[in-house]
Amino acid sequence: MNYRETKHFGSIASKPGSFGVEFHNRGYQELGLNCHYQALQVKPEQLFVAMGILRNNFQGWGVSMPHKLAVLAYLSSSDQSVEKTGAVNTVLKQPDGSLKGFNTDYMGAKKAIQESSDIRHKPVMMIGAGGAARAIALAVTELGGDLFIGNRTEEKARDLAERFSANFFDLSNSDYQGYLLVNATSVGMANPDESPVSRDILEGFDAVMDVVVTRGLETKLVRDARELGKPVIKGLTMTTHQAAEQFRLYTGRELPRSFLDNFMEYWQCSK
Ligand code: ATR
Repeated sequence: MNYRETKHFGSIASKPGSFGVEFHNRGYQELGLNCHYQALQVKPEQLFVAMGILRNNFQGWGVSMPHKLAVLAYLSSSDQSVEKTGAVNTVLKQPDGSLKGFNTDYMGAKKAIQESSDIRHKPVMMIGAGGAARAIALAVTELGGDLFIGNRTEEKARDLAERFSANFFDLSNSDYQGYLLVNATSVGMANPDESPVSRDILEGFDAVMDVVVTRGLETKLVRDARELGKPVIKGLTMTTHQAAEQFRLYTGRELPRSFLDNFMEYWQCSK
């Protein structure tokens, strides 16, 4: 392997995780690509300098919390996923050195929902109104779901509902029901034994989706849904699909489905 010719990719976040590093580097190995991926810790006040360094040394990079909106100012172009969600999670350097933005969170959410159920004309109740919620709102809307949005801070749910011509619902009214329940909040991330909804509420849904990705133990929401016999779309599935989409944008190559399945199994079973 010629190290001078290695292509560099990576990600920026104030608290970098290991998912991208493991996924992409294993993917390069799988396909025999001379590429390397690293996660960089970047605080908001370091973003300007970091973007300069990345532009000079990397071909593309992922953007995580809290930079998904701030990075918009550095882009020369973006695809419709960024325009519609107003958030960017992937930057790809173009041949002329300019930067193009994508939102692969949306693409991952759409793929994960699509392969699990048909939500056309069915009520989808989404809890949360942050970055992840924007990506899912676009996916649900494009898949023809009838979207309702509720959030701890009501105002944000109302704003998001307006942006996507969706409906607002009141989270404090505890008898909501529908076809698919989506947790797009971070509840369950720090403590996998915490769930955003009671089992009583879960009873009123046919299927459940959780954006939270945990390593090892599954979230309480996912475990509760399984115990109630509901089909579940896990955060891990959405995240793996979004990473596969990034991989395709970065390298122009498609990872085999078996790689994605093996990676998800590895991630869920390891600590
Ligand atoms: P992300 O980009 O991961 O979606 P975010 O933009 O910070 O992160 O959004 C986090 C979401 O989780 C928000 O909808 C937030 O609700 P608020 O808008 O009221 O802050 C929600 N959230 C976080 N902690 C929560 C909790 N303990 N209970 C309910 N909702 C919570």
